Amino acid sequence: MLSAQAVHTAKSAKADPVAGEALYHRYCGMCHSTQAGIKIVGPSLSGEMKGPHGKTAAQVRMQTELGKGLMPSFKGKLNDVELADLIAYIRKL
Ligand code: HEC
Repeated sequence: MLSAQAVHTAKSAKADPVAGEALYHRYCGMCHSTQAGIKIVGPSLSGEMKGPHGKTAAQVRMQTELGKGLMPSFKGKLNDVELADLIAYIRKL
């Protein structure tokens, strides 16, 4: 019981997909749909981190920090905790 609780605490301290969802809608959702196949400005991020061609957390983080083409850089706008939360949410899409 105690250890399960400790694991849960460690997990939520690490990344919170619910907080990530709010960040996504604030910073990403105007350009990235969460529905497969729907392009807004950028590609849908549905399944972005799933399956054999899924991106890793490091790849998503790098793209978010650097930006690319029409995507702005979020470096300095999102801190480490926010990036981890955001990635925890994108992982579920
Ligand atoms: C102004 C529109 C815009 C915003 C805001 C934006 N993006 Fe993007 N994003 C793009 C575009 C356009 C691309 C495609 C870039 C390219 O490859 O030329 C892209 C690509 C990506 C990719 C790579 C997709 C792939 O599979 O190739 C990821 C991951 C991503 N964005 C994450 C994010 C996250 C996370 C946020 C919010 C913090 C965000 N983006 C905000 C426009 C945007």
